Amino acid sequence: MSSTATRLMELVGDEDHGLGDIVRIVEFDAGLTAQILKVVNSPVFGLRQPVETVQRAVAYLGEKMVVGIAIGSCAPQIFHRPLEGYDSGPEDLWEHSLKTAIASRELALLAKSKVSPEVAFTAGILHDIGKSVLSYFLRGRTEEMVLRFERGETSDYIQGEEAVVGTNHCKVGLEMARHWRLPDPLQGVIMHHHYPGRALEGYRPLVYTVHLGDMVAMASGAGTGIDAMGYRLDGAYKDFLLVDRDGLEKLVMSVIVEFERARASIFGN
Ligand SMILES: [Fe+2]
Ligand SMILES: [Fe+2]
Repeated sequence: MSSTATRLMELVGDEDHGLGDIVRIVEFDAGLTAQILKVVNSPVFGLRQPVETVQRAVAYLGEKMVVGIAIGSCAPQIFHRPLEGYDSGPEDLWEHSLKTAIASRELALLAKSKVSPEVAFTAGILHDIGKSVLSYFLRGRTEEMVLRFERGETSDYIQGEEAVVGTNHCKVGLEMARHWRLPDPLQGVIMHHHYPGRALEGYRPLVYTVHLGDMVAMASGAGTGIDAMGYRLDGAYKDFLLVDRDGLEKLVMSVIVEFERARASIFGN
């Protein structure tokens, strides 16, 4: 991952930062600057005057979008590779991650204790990052995993990964997050998003937010292949989030719309 993306993620996790701090990081990265100007000047935004400075582009797009672009532009190697071990296509992890991020950002606003929408977004983008590495080792083993699941030897995908390769995408993701020195709450989400009750108490509001966001992303048609197998929603999310069935259904719809918008602004139509 580029050092710019890592620094941006650290920065948005820190409560007292300003847009100026973001600008100072972005403007030193030629590739990212180009990408951001390309996005803000794309027809999607319909601006009459072209935006030429990083400062105006960042002010216009907002930090969430800028961080999203930074991660998206430096991580195509990660997100756009087929996840062979998960029986899914090259863009599935990217789509799933972005949808989880969008859902988690919305859900953060419904958290009973304070959860930063920006941090929830970043955590959503990164929660399944371990899959990018683990998929390589799971190649050709999908059938075996499904079979074990059907025989009742494993009860969810995490156990399936453990049975086949002796580790799972949460543990692998945690090692990656440590290596990148990502902030602790993000490490907590990466490690515990499937079993949020195991997260440190202080991180649980955020971890439950992404746990539910993950589910919403799957409901909006973005799983990463067979990993949805045996996915268990931890009902204790209700202790952390004020959302009902109706609210969740609406969220699924708005995630689909937001995702298409984001895709269009990054890649064009
Ligand atoms: Fe996961
Ligand atoms: Fe996920």
